[in-house]
Amino acid sequence: MKILVTGGLGFIGSHTSVELQQKGYEVVIIDNCSNASEEVLDGITAITGKKPLFEKIDLRNKEDVSDFFQRHSDLDGVIHFAASKAVGESVDKPLLYYENNLGTLVYLLQHLSKQKKAHFIFSSSCTVYCQADTMPITEDAPVKPAESPYGNTKQIGEEIIQDTCKVTPHLHAISLRYFNPMGAHPSIEIGELPTGVPQNLVPFITQTGIGMREKLSVFGDDYPTEDGTCIREYIHVVDLAKAHVVALKRLIEGKNEKNYEVFNVGTGTGSSVLEVIHSFEKVSGKKLNYQIVGRRQGDVIKAFADTAKANSTLGWKAQSTLDEAMLSAWQWEQKIRKD
Ligand code: UD1
Repeated sequence: MKILVTGGLGFIGSHTSVELQQKGYEVVIIDNCSNASEEVLDGITAITGKKPLFEKIDLRNKEDVSDFFQRHSDLDGVIHFAASKAVGESVDKPLLYYENNLGTLVYLLQHLSKQKKAHFIFSSSCTVYCQADTMPITEDAPVKPAESPYGNTKQIGEEIIQDTCKVTPHLHAISLRYFNPMGAHPSIEIGELPTGVPQNLVPFITQTGIGMREKLSVFGDDYPTEDGTCIREYIHVVDLAKAHVVALKRLIEGKNEKNYEVFNVGTGTGSSVLEVIHSFEKVSGKKLNYQIVGRRQGDVIKAFADTAKANSTLGWKAQSTLDEAMLSAWQWEQKIRKD
């Protein structure tokens, strides 16, 4: 079985490529390397013993996409990660986000619609729920008006796939709504490689721990939560990667109930920012330099998943604890700063 992984050199894409290869799938990666390095291929090869096929293509280039599909007419599935993901940047550059995240999705679906049978996994996000009214969040929770162009691209992306599936019975698709991915592969051959100053909590913590950043700013401790800091759900990237393989298998084996389905992918357990910091301190044995500052605009107070649908329907369950995920993130940080 030959699977296209777009954005396969990125954080979640590289871990998913590993899991696919370990299950015997042949992986073809497309990446434009705008936020990833070709060296990630070496990490995937070191873990799996096999170098995936790689083509440096920018999916915004329609002709290159057509050319790719002509040369690879035998694809059994597509997992689509390639997208821009920084919430703040999306506010400043909305058109970049709409072009990158939605234009490319349309091109891919145009090609898949022409195939006799197509299986498609979309990288969506819990951000589609915004601040949900009740916790944990089920897949039926309303999708509220997006708070950023990034969030809007995930909402519209899901709608584009759903609309296309309605008129394309041979297109079978699943959107996976992730909660906050973190960690690194236990081999420490691949992990998260944020460019510039990390916007996300965990890489900022590990970079502060290693001395690259002076201190972490905790955005607000006056929220209506137990310790006053925001609650999120943090999922080990390997657990998340495995969910993609299971979802793809569901489509390939024709076990899906509808030709468009949506699943939350998370652990079901929320953690506050302070709990995440304490997890770092526990696994690293280091005190983290942090300071409480004002709230960050646009932050939701709480977001954690009801994962019952993924657990029972996909037969998938996250295995790793926050501490295990944090330990791998810390080991990865130490490794990349040593090299
Ligand atoms: C958000 C989106 C997520 C998206 C991600 C992309 C929601 C619920 N989640 O994640 O879908 O993929 O952006 O970047 O909309 N924090 C600090 N100090 C820091 C960094 C973060 O205190 O330096 C806090 C934040 O206030 C938040 C938590 O840590 O409470 C997690 O923040 P972050 O890692 O940026 O992820 P989200 O905002 O949850």
